[in-house]
Amino acid sequence: MKVMVLPSAADAEHHVAALFAKQLRRKPDSVLGLATGGTPVGVYRALAAAHRAGAADFARARTFNLDEYAGLPETHPQSYAAYMKAHLFDLVNLSPARTHLPDGEAANAEDACRFYDALYRYYGPADLQLLGIGLNGHIGFNEPGFAPAPGGTHVVRLDESTRRANARFFGEGEQVPEYALTMSAGRILQARSIVLLATGAAKATIVVRALEGPIGTDCPASLLQLHPDATFVLDIEAAGKLEPETAAGPPLERG
Ligand code: PGA
Repeated sequence: MKVMVLPSAADAEHHVAALFAKQLRRKPDSVLGLATGGTPVGVYRALAAAHRAGAADFARARTFNLDEYAGLPETHPQSYAAYMKAHLFDLVNLSPARTHLPDGEAANAEDACRFYDALYRYYGPADLQLLGIGLNGHIGFNEPGFAPAPGGTHVVRLDESTRRANARFFGEGEQVPEYALTMSAGRILQARSIVLLATGAAKATIVVRALEGPIGTDCPASLLQLHPDATFVLDIEAAGKLEPETAAGPPLERG
Protein backbone atom coordinates (compact mmCIF):
# COMPACT_ATOMS: atom_id res chain seq x y z
CA MET A 1 0.00 0.00 0.00
CA LYS A 2 1.36 3.40 -0.91
CA VAL A 3 0.91 6.42 1.32
CA MET A 4 1.29 9.99 0.16
CA VAL A 5 1.10 12.86 2.62
CA LEU A 6 0.56 16.38 1.31
CA PRO A 7 0.74 19.66 3.22
CA SER A 8 -2.92 20.67 2.93
CA ALA A 9 -6.33 19.30 1.99
CA ALA A 10 -6.27 21.43 -1.16
CA ASP A 11 -2.91 19.91 -2.16
CA ALA A 12 -4.27 16.40 -1.58
CA GLU A 13 -7.42 17.15 -3.61
CA HIS A 14 -5.36 18.57 -6.48
CA HIS A 15 -3.05 15.60 -6.42
CA VAL A 16 -5.99 13.19 -6.74
CA ALA A 17 -7.62 15.28 -9.48
CA ALA A 18 -4.32 15.22 -11.37
CA LEU A 19 -4.24 11.41 -11.13
CA PHE A 20 -7.69 11.25 -12.74
CA ALA A 21 -6.77 13.75 -15.46
CA LYS A 22 -3.63 11.74 -16.20
CA GLN A 23 -5.65 8.53 -16.32
CA LEU A 24 -7.96 10.11 -18.94
CA ARG A 25 -5.03 11.27 -21.04
CA ARG A 26 -3.40 7.84 -20.90
CA LYS A 27 -6.66 6.00 -21.64
CA PRO A 28 -9.49 8.23 -22.92
CA ASP A 29 -12.08 5.45 -22.57
CA SER A 30 -11.21 4.83 -18.92
CA VAL A 31 -13.76 3.50 -16.48
CA LEU A 32 -13.63 5.79 -13.46
CA GLY A 33 -14.91 4.71 -10.07
CA LEU A 34 -16.35 7.70 -8.21
CA ALA A 35 -17.24 8.49 -4.61
CA THR A 36 -19.41 11.06 -2.85
CA GLY A 37 -19.34 12.78 0.55
CA GLY A 38 -17.58 15.89 1.76
CA THR A 39 -14.05 14.77 0.93
CA PRO A 40 -14.17 14.48 -2.89
CA VAL A 41 -15.84 17.87 -3.49
CA GLY A 42 -12.48 19.59 -3.96
CA VAL A 43 -11.29 16.79 -6.27
CA TYR A 44 -14.28 17.33 -8.55
CA ARG A 45 -13.80 21.10 -8.44
CA ALA A 46 -10.20 20.64 -9.57
CA LEU A 47 -11.19 18.11 -12.23
CA ALA A 48 -13.84 20.47 -13.64
CA ALA A 49 -11.18 23.20 -13.77
CA ALA A 50 -8.80 20.80 -15.54
CA HIS A 51 -11.57 20.08 -18.04
CA ARG A 52 -12.11 23.80 -18.70
CA ALA A 53 -8.36 24.17 -19.21
CA GLY A 54 -8.40 21.38 -21.80
CA ALA A 55 -6.51 18.93 -19.58
CA ALA A 56 -9.30 16.42 -18.88
CA ASP A 57 -11.53 15.09 -21.65
CA PHE A 58 -14.38 12.86 -20.46
CA ALA A 59 -15.97 12.28 -23.90
CA ARG A 60 -15.10 8.58 -24.00
CA ALA A 61 -14.94 7.91 -20.26
CA ARG A 62 -17.52 5.97 -18.28
CA THR A 63 -18.17 6.37 -14.58
CA PHE A 64 -19.53 4.13 -11.85
CA ASN A 65 -20.41 5.45 -8.41
CA LEU A 66 -20.01 3.38 -5.30
CA ASP A 67 -23.43 3.80 -3.78
CA GLU A 68 -26.78 5.56 -3.51
CA TYR A 69 -29.33 6.05 -0.76
CA ALA A 70 -32.41 3.83 -1.00
CA GLY A 71 -35.66 5.69 -1.36
CA LEU A 72 -34.33 9.08 -2.47
CA PRO A 73 -35.41 10.19 -5.94
CA GLU A 74 -32.48 11.35 -8.06
CA THR A 75 -33.94 14.86 -7.94
CA HIS A 76 -33.58 14.97 -4.14
CA PRO A 77 -30.64 17.31 -3.48
CA GLN A 78 -29.02 14.79 -1.11
CA SER A 79 -29.21 11.89 -3.55
CA TYR A 80 -25.79 10.95 -4.82
CA ALA A 81 -27.14 11.28 -8.37
CA ALA A 82 -27.85 14.97 -7.66
CA TYR A 83 -24.48 15.37 -5.91
CA MET A 84 -22.63 13.99 -8.92
CA LYS A 85 -24.50 16.23 -11.35
CA ALA A 86 -23.82 19.32 -9.24
CA HIS A 87 -20.16 18.61 -8.54
CA LEU A 88 -18.98 16.94 -11.75
CA PHE A 89 -21.34 15.57 -14.37
CA ASP A 90 -22.90 18.90 -15.36
CA LEU A 91 -19.48 20.58 -15.42
CA VAL A 92 -17.63 18.28 -17.83
CA ASN A 93 -18.30 16.58 -21.16
CA LEU A 94 -19.69 13.33 -19.78
CA SER A 95 -22.75 12.02 -21.55
CA PRO A 96 -25.43 11.00 -18.99
CA ALA A 97 -25.60 7.61 -20.69
CA ARG A 98 -22.02 6.94 -19.58
CA THR A 99 -22.53 7.80 -15.92
CA HIS A 100 -23.85 5.08 -13.64
CA LEU A 101 -25.16 5.00 -10.10
CA PRO A 102 -27.32 2.40 -8.40
CA ASP A 103 -30.99 3.33 -8.80
CA GLY A 104 -32.04 4.46 -5.33
CA GLU A 105 -35.69 4.88 -6.21
CA ALA A 106 -36.24 1.53 -7.90
CA ALA A 107 -39.43 -0.20 -6.73
CA ASN A 108 -37.33 -3.31 -6.21
CA ALA A 109 -33.92 -2.40 -4.78
CA GLU A 110 -32.60 -5.95 -5.05
CA ASP A 111 -33.31 -5.96 -8.78
CA ALA A 112 -31.66 -2.55 -9.11
CA CYS A 113 -28.56 -3.96 -7.39
CA ARG A 114 -28.43 -6.96 -9.71
CA PHE A 115 -28.77 -4.68 -12.74
CA TYR A 116 -26.03 -2.36 -11.49
CA ASP A 117 -23.72 -5.23 -10.77
CA ALA A 118 -24.29 -6.69 -14.22
CA LEU A 119 -23.43 -3.31 -15.77
CA TYR A 120 -20.26 -3.10 -13.71
CA ARG A 121 -19.24 -6.62 -14.65
CA TYR A 122 -19.80 -5.76 -18.31
CA TYR A 123 -17.99 -2.41 -18.46
CA GLY A 124 -15.72 -2.64 -15.42
CA PRO A 125 -13.68 -3.01 -13.44
CA ALA A 126 -12.69 0.58 -12.83
CA ASP A 127 -9.29 1.60 -14.15
CA LEU A 128 -9.05 4.10 -11.30
CA GLN A 129 -11.30 4.08 -8.26
CA LEU A 130 -11.69 7.04 -5.91
CA LEU A 131 -12.60 6.27 -2.30
CA GLY A 132 -13.25 8.20 0.86
CA ILE A 133 -13.16 6.60 4.27
CA GLY A 134 -15.96 6.79 6.83
CA LEU A 135 -15.16 7.71 10.41
CA ASN A 136 -15.98 4.05 11.13
CA GLY A 137 -13.71 2.77 8.34
CA HIS A 138 -16.41 2.05 5.78
CA ILE A 139 -15.66 2.12 2.05
CA GLY A 140 -18.69 2.72 -0.11
CA PHE A 141 -21.42 1.79 2.34
CA ASN A 142 -19.70 -1.42 3.41
CA GLU A 143 -20.04 -0.87 7.13
CA PRO A 144 -17.82 -2.50 9.80
CA GLY A 145 -18.50 -6.21 10.19
CA PHE A 146 -20.23 -6.43 6.82
CA ALA A 147 -21.29 -9.83 5.56
CA PRO A 148 -19.88 -11.15 2.29
CA ALA A 149 -22.01 -10.15 -0.71
CA PRO A 150 -21.34 -12.71 -3.43
CA GLY A 151 -23.74 -10.87 -5.75
CA GLY A 152 -21.64 -7.70 -5.63
CA THR A 153 -23.89 -4.63 -5.35
CA HIS A 154 -26.39 -5.09 -2.54
CA VAL A 155 -28.75 -3.35 -0.14
CA VAL A 156 -27.32 -2.43 3.26
CA ARG A 157 -28.67 -0.92 6.42
CA LEU A 158 -26.56 2.10 7.32
CA ASP A 159 -24.77 2.26 10.67
CA GLU A 160 -26.20 4.76 13.11
CA SER A 161 -22.74 6.41 13.14
CA THR A 162 -22.89 6.83 9.35
CA ARG A 163 -26.38 8.33 9.54
CA ARG A 164 -25.17 10.73 12.24
CA ALA A 165 -22.07 11.67 10.21
CA ASN A 166 -24.16 12.34 7.09
CA ALA A 167 -26.95 14.22 8.89
CA ARG A 168 -24.94 17.40 8.30
CA PHE A 169 -25.86 17.28 4.62
CA PHE A 170 -29.60 16.98 5.26
CA GLY A 171 -32.02 19.73 6.23
CA GLU A 172 -33.41 20.13 9.72
CA GLY A 173 -36.12 17.57 10.38
CA GLU A 174 -34.99 15.53 7.37
CA GLN A 175 -33.97 11.95 8.05
CA VAL A 176 -30.87 10.33 6.56
CA PRO A 177 -32.21 7.24 4.78
CA GLU A 178 -31.85 3.99 6.69
CA TYR A 179 -30.85 1.89 3.72
CA ALA A 180 -28.54 2.24 0.75
CA LEU A 181 -27.40 0.34 -2.33
CA THR A 182 -23.66 -0.18 -2.41
CA MET A 183 -21.01 -1.91 -4.43
CA SER A 184 -19.52 -4.69 -2.31
CA ALA A 185 -16.01 -4.50 -0.91
CA GLY A 186 -15.12 -7.36 -3.24
CA ARG A 187 -16.18 -5.38 -6.31
CA ILE A 188 -14.34 -2.28 -5.07
CA LEU A 189 -11.16 -4.31 -4.70
CA GLN A 190 -11.42 -5.41 -8.34
CA ALA A 191 -10.49 -1.89 -9.50
CA ARG A 192 -7.13 -1.86 -11.24
CA SER A 193 -5.91 1.08 -9.21
CA ILE A 194 -7.42 2.64 -6.09
CA VAL A 195 -6.84 6.02 -4.48
CA LEU A 196 -8.33 6.70 -1.06
CA LEU A 197 -8.44 10.35 -0.07
CA ALA A 198 -8.72 11.37 3.59
CA THR A 199 -8.34 14.89 4.88
CA GLY A 200 -8.74 16.55 8.27
CA ALA A 201 -7.89 15.59 11.84
CA ALA A 202 -11.20 13.76 12.38
CA LYS A 203 -9.97 10.99 10.05
CA ALA A 204 -6.55 10.53 11.73
CA THR A 205 -7.58 7.66 14.05
CA ILE A 206 -9.39 5.58 11.42
CA VAL A 207 -6.53 6.14 8.95
CA VAL A 208 -4.15 4.56 11.49
CA ARG A 209 -6.53 1.63 11.95
CA ALA A 210 -6.82 1.11 8.17
CA LEU A 211 -3.10 1.35 7.42
CA GLU A 212 -1.45 -0.06 10.54
CA GLY A 213 -4.14 -2.32 11.98
CA PRO A 214 -4.95 -5.92 11.14
CA ILE A 215 -6.80 -6.64 7.91
CA GLY A 216 -10.44 -7.39 8.68
CA THR A 217 -14.02 -6.48 8.00
CA ASP A 218 -14.26 -4.61 11.32
CA CYS A 219 -12.37 -1.88 9.43
CA PRO A 220 -13.41 -2.30 5.79
CA ALA A 221 -10.73 0.14 4.56
CA SER A 222 -8.04 -2.17 6.02
CA LEU A 223 -8.91 -4.60 3.19
CA LEU A 224 -7.14 -2.21 0.85
CA GLN A 225 -3.90 -3.56 2.30
CA LEU A 226 -4.64 -6.62 0.13
CA HIS A 227 -4.79 -4.59 -3.09
CA PRO A 228 -1.73 -4.51 -5.37
CA ASP A 229 -2.16 -0.87 -6.37
CA ALA A 230 -3.85 1.16 -3.64
CA THR A 231 -2.68 4.56 -2.46
CA PHE A 232 -3.81 6.56 0.54
CA VAL A 233 -3.55 10.28 -0.23
CA LEU A 234 -3.65 12.23 3.03
CA ASP A 235 -3.21 15.75 4.23
CA ILE A 236 -0.97 16.33 7.23
CA GLU A 237 -3.92 16.32 9.62
CA ALA A 238 -5.35 12.99 8.48
CA ALA A 239 -1.81 11.54 8.62
CA GLY A 240 -1.19 13.09 12.04
CA LYS A 241 -1.38 9.88 14.10
CA LEU A 242 0.53 7.55 11.76
CA GLU A 243 3.86 6.06 12.69
CA PRO A 244 6.55 8.02 10.82
CA GLU A 245 7.52 4.97 8.78
CA THR A 246 3.89 4.47 7.61
CA ALA A 247 3.58 8.12 6.65
CA ALA A 248 6.78 7.80 4.63
CA GLY A 249 5.31 4.85 2.70
CA PRO A 250 6.81 1.36 2.43
CA PRO A 251 10.59 1.42 1.90
CA LEU A 252 10.40 -0.09 -1.59
CA GLU A 253 7.96 2.59 -2.70
CA ARG A 254 10.11 5.52 -1.62
CA GLY A 255 12.01 7.71 -4.06
P1 PGA B 1 -16.90 12.21 4.00
O1 PGA B 1 -17.39 10.71 3.86
O2 PGA B 1 -16.04 12.47 2.81
O3 PGA B 1 -18.18 13.01 3.98
O4 PGA B 1 -16.16 12.30 5.28
C1 PGA B 1 -16.46 9.74 3.56
C2 PGA B 1 -17.15 8.40 3.51
O5 PGA B 1 -18.14 8.20 4.22
O6 PGA B 1 -16.68 7.55 2.74
